[in-house]
Amino acid sequence: MTQSANPLPVAGSETGLEILKGFARERSLLVALRLMNQHVGTAFQITLPRFQPAVFIGPESNRQILVSGRQDFTWRPEGDPVCKLLRQGVLVTDGEFHDELRAWMDPPLQRRNVTPHIPAFWRYTDDIARLWQDGQEVDMLVEMRKVALLILMGTLFEIEFLPELERLWQPILHLLEYISPGLWIFWAGMPRPKYRHAIKAVDEYLYGIIRQRRQEIEQFGLEPSTGDLLGQLVAHAGMSDDLIRDQLLTMLIAGHDTSTALLSWVFYLLGTHPDAMAQVRAEVDSVLSSRDEPPSLDEITHLAFTDQVIKEALRLYPPIHVGNRRADTDVTVQGYDVPEGTRVMYSIYLSHRDKNHWDNPTEFCPARFDRSSEDKQPPFTYVPFGGGPRNCIGAAFAQVEAKVVISRLLQNFDFELLNGDEIKPHMGATLEPRPGVIMRVRRRD
Ligand code: HEM
Repeated sequence: MTQSANPLPVAGSETGLEILKGFARERSLLVALRLMNQHVGTAFQITLPRFQPAVFIGPESNRQILVSGRQDFTWRPEGDPVCKLLRQGVLVTDGEFHDELRAWMDPPLQRRNVTPHIPAFWRYTDDIARLWQDGQEVDMLVEMRKVALLILMGTLFEIEFLPELERLWQPILHLLEYISPGLWIFWAGMPRPKYRHAIKAVDEYLYGIIRQRRQEIEQFGLEPSTGDLLGQLVAHAGMSDDLIRDQLLTMLIAGHDTSTALLSWVFYLLGTHPDAMAQVRAEVDSVLSSRDEPPSLDEITHLAFTDQVIKEALRLYPPIHVGNRRADTDVTVQGYDVPEGTRVMYSIYLSHRDKNHWDNPTEFCPARFDRSSEDKQPPFTYVPFGGGPRNCIGAAFAQVEAKVVISRLLQNFDFELLNGDEIKPHMGATLEPRPGVIMRVRRRD
């Protein structure tokens, strides 16, 4: 490696100590990143023992990492638990192989193939909400995970997941814990036997549904529908069960944990902003009335304020708060040298709170996303779904899903937040509201 002419700034000893304490206290990368941004700027290197990523904030570096210079970056170091778990999943592969997988998986997730799922989004929301008693306290972080799992499995895999929910609940939570930041960051080869059982349970289930769909397609000649991702992967000649398992697990994790976080943040924000809650409810009442049947695409499109709330929730609490890469060659980002092999992060959370590009960045203000002001926001300042050729494949799915779930729940229930003061963002596999979003639900007349 050559001597760096313009190395990335690092924390001085005082800031370094503060960061280390913050990390130890909250076990949260977010605290470290926030402090560095505050004290050092929009480009810096974290220098914790065995964990020294280069971190970038703002549109210039977002654009370079995601689009203009993306060929200089691969996804992540291979020892990462995400890579170990997802093996050859589209999220963690690179180059031509990634592009090929992506091309196979794109069609079921295109907006035109997602909108026919609106009735299913609506029905699975009801399947969970009908279990709530009037006046009951529920944790929306838990309830939204149930809804998101039923939706993901029911639509993209065409599997009714409710009967499996209880059995696979803990194994799925364990897998999320396995890929969440933790001690492994500092000790790459750390043995983690605790997770073997969970991986085995989820794997057995996934291989089982692959075998079953293969039988339906190959022996009984069933044609998979365009929206049936599992069927499409099975029907693609030459794709092994292992490779399909990797894509299913990728979608299962990336496709439900993010939506869980988004939906529960929306309920937290509405719970702490009663005016916005009233405005969403009024919009839902006016567009959907009290009709007991799924909304049309046209009606969903007319939920303009609900859409702004979702976008603002994604700005303040982006479920994927940071994108990870590895520099594949020596590169210069924001004028600083980044040597080959460096772990690189583009911070979505801090880009969304950058004072240089947002007015009152910490304030909840859905109106900033009304059409006229949205147009003024420069590209790559708002990147909740990443950008470029490996942006979120499920972006359309997630946004339509969120609108249907939120509108259906507000059509039928009043929500009162009970623990607003104690909720903080927690960096698990996604950025979650912890310790949960406890709400009292009352059935509307
Ligand atoms: C609110 C919901 C969601 C958010 C905020 C979100 C966010 C993101 C972000 C930021 C990326 C890019 C990460 C990077 O640059 O490394 C990404 C990629 C990805 N997302 Fe999502 N996502 C969401 C929902 C979904 C859903 C519903 C699915 C599947 C149904 C999904 C599947 C994926 C996959 C497979 C990738 C990797 C794409 C590739 O590398 O080509 N996501 N997501």
